[in-house]
Amino acid sequence: MSDLMKHLNETVAFIQSKVKTDAQIGVVLGSGLGNLTNDIEIEYSIPYAEIPHFPVSTVKGHSGKLLFGKMGGRAVIVMGGRFHFYEGYSAQQVIYPVRVMKLLGVKTLLLSNAAGGVNPDYQVGDLMIINDHISFFTENPLMGKNEDEIGTRFPDMSEPYCKELIAKAHAIAKANRINIHEGVYTAVTGPTFETRAEYKLIKILGSDVVGMSTVQENIAAVHCGIKVFAVSVVTDMGIREDENTITHEEVLQAAKEAEPKLALLFNELVRSI
Ligand code: HPA
Repeated sequence: MSDLMKHLNETVAFIQSKVKTDAQIGVVLGSGLGNLTNDIEIEYSIPYAEIPHFPVSTVKGHSGKLLFGKMGGRAVIVMGGRFHFYEGYSAQQVIYPVRVMKLLGVKTLLLSNAAGGVNPDYQVGDLMIINDHISFFTENPLMGKNEDEIGTRFPDMSEPYCKELIAKAHAIAKANRINIHEGVYTAVTGPTFETRAEYKLIKILGSDVVGMSTVQENIAAVHCGIKVFAVSVVTDMGIREDENTITHEEVLQAAKEAEPKLALLFNELVRSI
């Protein structure tokens, strides 16, 4: 058995020794969206630092937890805080929790993130369902030896985001009068926000938003056969004429303000799965 499979099995055995879960739905909460945990009836939580082989956070104040409980009446496993490539984790470390979720029985993964808008029709605070992505600017997490037990060497990526879940999300948004877009997310490494020329290029490539997460997790999920639904909160506009700069605080504030819409969407979506 490979070291990776050994580690994954040890991680899963540890978690199962602490908590019994039959959750088939996983949720990852993006930057500024941590309050969504208020909508979860938390039954058990494990700090990442206590989970064997989970990446160790070196960043102060980044104390994530794996949460087990109920959301929209359904059993869920929630990552309260994710691992970003820009923090210095390897791409394999970033996706490790997705693989753990798979082994715990997760079949559907809901991802959320804060992103910069490059589609001029978008506004700060809008939600966008991701229907496709561009990941040429970040490291593909499947590089290196393929783990055949997890998935195939050359995964098909023609439907990385589940069409059925996208249709359900549109119906939920319509019923609740939430204005929602659908479009393409381009992943960058960060941690710098993009230059004006980079935002322009990213728009020309066919993207609607740009962000520093989600895509590596999506690739890992597709690789191991988990269905993915993902949504971006537009927290700033990259394409604009004004001279304003973008700050992390502004991103967090915009995410916080849009959070109730996202909470409603995720709750109802989970209920419908
Ligand atoms: N660019 C990249 N990542 C982001 C942005 C952005 O403008 N906003 C929030 N995350």
